[in-house]
Amino acid sequence: MATQETLTPSGDGTDKAAKPADKAPLPVIKRVGLEGVVALDSVLSFIDGQVGELIYHGYDIKDLAENTTFEEVAYLLWKGSLPNRAQLDELNAQLQAERELPPMVLDVLRSVPEDAHPMAALRTAVSALALFDSEADDPSPEANYRKALRLTARTPTIIAAFDRLRKGKEALAPLKRNSTAHDFLYMLNGEEPGTAAERTFDVCLVLHAEHGLNASTFAGRVIGATLSDMYSAVTGAIGALKGPLHGGANVEVMKTLLELDRSGKSPEQFILDKLAAKERVMGFGHRVYKTLDPRAVILREMVQDLSEERGQRQWYDYGVEMMNTMEREKGIYPNVDFFSASVYHMLGIDMDLFTTIFTLSRMTGWTAHLIEQWSANRLIRPRSEYTGPRNLKVVPINQR
Ligand code: SDX
Repeated sequence: MATQETLTPSGDGTDKAAKPADKAPLPVIKRVGLEGVVALDSVLSFIDGQVGELIYHGYDIKDLAENTTFEEVAYLLWKGSLPNRAQLDELNAQLQAERELPPMVLDVLRSVPEDAHPMAALRTAVSALALFDSEADDPSPEANYRKALRLTARTPTIIAAFDRLRKGKEALAPLKRNSTAHDFLYMLNGEEPGTAAERTFDVCLVLHAEHGLNASTFAGRVIGATLSDMYSAVTGAIGALKGPLHGGANVEVMKTLLELDRSGKSPEQFILDKLAAKERVMGFGHRVYKTLDPRAVILREMVQDLSEERGQRQWYDYGVEMMNTMEREKGIYPNVDFFSASVYHMLGIDMDLFTTIFTLSRMTGWTAHLIEQWSANRLIRPRSEYTGPRNLKVVPINQR
């Protein structure tokens, strides 16, 4: 069993994590996809995949979804405790003050092709933000906190500006007097959201903020562990989240639901046909959860309420029958992406923007993990098992 490396807080981001005590070679552990491998210690979240538990820094996700806002969760992840009223007011004011984009980044978005993949546009604009941030390469904890806040403030502005520009509309300046949820929905739709829509969207942001060493967070920490900068790390994380096996799944779920809606089949038969064709049903399955994702439990209730409120009951009914069929046939359960797709659809958000919304929220988790990584850094560098040929001799090129 490899020695469990413990992290010793250093604060200056240098390579201070405890190294294995002796110099004897560590026993080799090979787990394809690093399944089940513990790579580091973290205080940010805990997941029990057997019982379907998720906590952020000690608080159960259900408690947080019911009783906090996205900004309170951001503070919890960055600072390690829920804010009091004064601390929350200060964070809200800071986010609002940083919401606007540097003009040159807006120019970058104006030059993005209308048919660009929204995650490619977001990845490009987030990367461009670094060029106009004088602190981009400042590794101090204070600068990194300000960058985490700036990135979280500006990601919604980028998404909304991209969507309006591709539709031939002008990007809207943020109102800078409301919650992230409120300002984003205003910048996207050109009208201020109702209380119910704002709260529904805010809960979605709470649910997507943090989830341990998922692929995109791990990608970000690998980049950060080289002592590269926060913008480089979150740009890599956006690239990872884009994939349909990860954050890109919520778009695929909506495509599946629309295909079902057109098919005339029952949800059960639709699923059976997909499984018979050996297809993956997106929005189901998880590397860690072996039961219902607790976020999916909350999102399912939101779909039920929204679908009844908006007279679109089919999205709830489809979801429940698909869920029951997958559980009976494969023992596989919905993950966070399954029901979130229907929520965003009923909020009137374009399907191809769904993963950018995941990014908006997860920017808090990614940046919190980077701040944690740098508090006691150690380069992340696993091994691979060599399966190639050996003892080959080079033949001169004119004889090959
Ligand atoms: C997210 O890690 C995180 O925390 C991620 C996330 C977060 O908050 O950051 O929770 C967000 O990314 C959620 C996952 C979104 N992705 C999808 O919905 C894509 C569909 N799901 C799968 O591709 C799959 O379940 C993964 C990728 C999520 C997990 O894959 P694993 O752990 O590598 O499992 P696997 O691919 O080895 O599958 C095990 C078995 C296989 O059957 P066999 O080939 O062994 O017979 O389960 C089957 C798979 O075929 N299976 C599915 C399935 N998922 C797994 N069969 C049909 N449909 C599916 N969705």
